[in-house]
Amino acid sequence: MAFFEALWTEARQSFTPWVLLLTVFAFVLTKTVAIDKPRFKAMFLFIAAHLAGLVATAGFEAVHSTFADITRTPTWVFGAVAIVGAGATLLFSVLLPRARLHAPLIVQDVVVGIAMVATSVAVLSRAGVNLSGLIATSAVFTAMLGFSLQDVIGNIAGGLALQVDNSLDEGDWIRVGDVTGRVVEVRWRYTAVETRNWETVLIPNTVMTRSNVFILGKRQGQPRQLRRWVYFNVDWRFQPGDVISVVQTAVRAAQIDRVAKEPLATVVLMDMTDTFGKYAVRYHLSDIAVDDPTDSEVRACVYFALQRADMTLAMPAHALFVTEETTDRKAIKTEKQLQRRRALLSTLDLFAGLAEAEREELARHMKYAPFAKGEVMTRQGAEAHWLYLMEDGQATVRVSDGTYDREVAQLNGPCFFGEMSLLTGEPRSATVIANGEVECFRLDKAAMQGVLAARHEIAETLARVLAERQVTLQAAKEGLSADAARERANRETNALLTRIRAFFALG
Ligand code: CMP
Repeated sequence: MAFFEALWTEARQSFTPWVLLLTVFAFVLTKTVAIDKPRFKAMFLFIAAHLAGLVATAGFEAVHSTFADITRTPTWVFGAVAIVGAGATLLFSVLLPRARLHAPLIVQDVVVGIAMVATSVAVLSRAGVNLSGLIATSAVFTAMLGFSLQDVIGNIAGGLALQVDNSLDEGDWIRVGDVTGRVVEVRWRYTAVETRNWETVLIPNTVMTRSNVFILGKRQGQPRQLRRWVYFNVDWRFQPGDVISVVQTAVRAAQIDRVAKEPLATVVLMDMTDTFGKYAVRYHLSDIAVDDPTDSEVRACVYFALQRADMTLAMPAHALFVTEETTDRKAIKTEKQLQRRRALLSTLDLFAGLAEAEREELARHMKYAPFAKGEVMTRQGAEAHWLYLMEDGQATVRVSDGTYDREVAQLNGPCFFGEMSLLTGEPRSATVIANGEVECFRLDKAAMQGVLAARHEIAETLARVLAERQVTLQAAKEGLSADAARERANRETNALLTRIRAFFALG
């Protein structure tokens, strides 16, 4: 009986009813809102320690043991700390989020830490412990404490400074020394940075405040984007102005994800060696996480643009060619290339009616024109010079009415495109973009003229394909039904045939 009486007396003195109330409150909270789990666990530990201390003190008190005086004070401190922890959870997980305010973790930690120390000091002085005397009389202890806490205090102050002056946000990409990565969290001791190699680096906040921290791609009033350099070498057979123009036009026109449209990419001659010029494409990367894959797409675009312009990348100056370029060798090479072109022509229905000699003639006029992923092969509204014969790869046909831009068709090689403008003389009706690498050849108007003059039925086939594709474009713009589109295609075929004949001056 004496035990329960002592328990009740101790509980009233030790704020136990409050602690129990908080335990219930804590249980309810865990079920309803997202809370900071580690702090919550610590709170439960303090509650448990408080209850254990309470039982022990009541036990000692019941048998009149002086141990009760020893266990009472920590019991009070545990209870007080648990109350502060619960109050912090209520404030930071319930009240502030309701008011749409968010205190950074480090600020929460520091506020809770200070509140816990202050409460503990208050409780200890209530229990009669003379703290000021204890610290003042132990100068050596104070000095040691200050010295050992130097780093901790520096880290906390650094972390707070980083949060308070808003210089760094979670999600920022930074470079500190040889670490480059994305900031995931600023804690009271360190800033956690995730690197591209799937590592997390914990940089002490003192290092963060004492070093040069580069925030990648950040510029006031501008979107986040980082300038990248992609180098390539071209030998002096090709004039720098031409190289720059060919590559710059291709990279600017290409629709490569993550290459910013503003500022536009530029190409510069960076350096000159005996045998080649060193060039660089400078572009702005809009998603800093994906740097190497985007560089790779830009490189592919440079490669194909140079190929189309018959410009070759420079070879190392020490490369030695031992193969003699004999007439026979040249003939074999040409024959191989012609074979490839003939094969492509024979797979296209459009040229099925041609005799072998006619196909041969056409093959000689075909010019190799490969494209990299994202490159624009024809642009809506541009002047047309070529009919494209796509050997392999995929492309998307898109049409824009000035406000909306929509996809109207997918092209899969082998197929042809670019016939509409070449046959009628009108600007390109749509934009065709390479979905991946595209192996392609092109034919100019003169070559087509020869074929059409010799084979009138090709003009008819072209007129039909043309009418069908044009009507698909109109259907996309006007929302025509399938039947209406078919009927319009039939009507337009004859009109187009007349126009093709007139444009190519066919009899
Ligand atoms: P041209 O207008 O010269 O340039 C864009 C090309 O996109 C066009 O020729 C056609 O070859 C192609 N094109 C346009 N509309 C379609 C379509 N509906 N289906 C397939 N190809 C199309």
